Amino acid sequence: MKRRISAVVATIIAMTLSLSACSDLGGLDLDKVGEDGKKTWVKLALNQTETHPSYIALDHFSQRFEERTDGRWKIDIYPNEQLGSQQEVLQFVKSGAIEMAIVSGTQLENLNKDFQVLNMPTTFSSVEHQMEVIRHPEIVGEVFTSLEDSDNISVIGGFTQGGRNVYTSFGLVKTPADLAGKKIRVQESEMHIRMIELMGGSATPMSYGEVYTAIQSGVLDGAENNEVSYSTQRHMEVAPYFSYTNHLIGLDYMIMRHDLRLAMSEEDRQIFDEEWEKAMIEHTELWDQETKDAIADAEATGATFDEVDREAFVEALAPIKDEFLTTDFQKELFDKIRAADTSETGGSK
Ligand code: GCU
Repeated sequence: MKRRISAVVATIIAMTLSLSACSDLGGLDLDKVGEDGKKTWVKLALNQTETHPSYIALDHFSQRFEERTDGRWKIDIYPNEQLGSQQEVLQFVKSGAIEMAIVSGTQLENLNKDFQVLNMPTTFSSVEHQMEVIRHPEIVGEVFTSLEDSDNISVIGGFTQGGRNVYTSFGLVKTPADLAGKKIRVQESEMHIRMIELMGGSATPMSYGEVYTAIQSGVLDGAENNEVSYSTQRHMEVAPYFSYTNHLIGLDYMIMRHDLRLAMSEEDRQIFDEEWEKAMIEHTELWDQETKDAIADAEATGATFDEVDREAFVEALAPIKDEFLTTDFQKELFDKIRAADTSETGGSK
């Protein structure tokens, strides 16, 4: 953890130096972005490894965007929390120290509680339903644009986190009673703390990059995430029992400095949006295969996957809706999202 903190400090110092030197790597001149003959360098923060589908889709996106704008734009991706945890990089995008980041919905909830609706157990029935909804401005437009004036953040779109499940160092979980007294890591979100409490555990909020060591040292008894993160973060080495609670289909957002988005020429913004749409498609296509590969990888390392008593968890989580859908806007948003589910199981939860 110490190493990561000093890397973050070094990066911030480097950013500050480049800002004061006004080089191409910092201190963007918004009047000139994308101008002919001038390359605009953009820093994009990611907390995943280079093998994660988010990195792969972003890397291809960045290459295509650079190519189609004849080199006017260069997006540099910094994986592995190199620029800081998601909580930190969100502040960096807000302040303009970096330009873009992938952050989990839990981070945006802390700026506008309406994002909780898209990050709650039962909101989405499937990845297909989720990816369909986030492409509908008439459903999500008001929430996605809500941070532009207040926080200088444009929400561009999203990548699925797939179904999230509990894994532990001590054994498989069948019912909420198995989590009694167990410390389970959650993302930094009031709603997710409550979610784990309802599921029977004791919630410990913590940033992603600290989870491995915390489980290894016994500070945590487990965490919750998808199979891809479980394998790419090597969590199966310290928490080999993976239980399919499937309590939530999570969502990551691509965020960008709003002033930078406004400063892009119309032509470049259109190219950006077209290529971003392809990135979302590629990410979703990769997701299934990467999930299968992650399971095989974790099993080869000795992990066990098993089903839970589904009904027991559904029942335990039932109160979350009433506790967190508190305004008319949130209730309507939730209803619109549920109504957009056309799958057979739609609306059944
Ligand atoms: C997933 C998600 C990340 C998030 C992480 C977490 O991996 O894609 O954006 O940070 O879960 O649990 O913190």
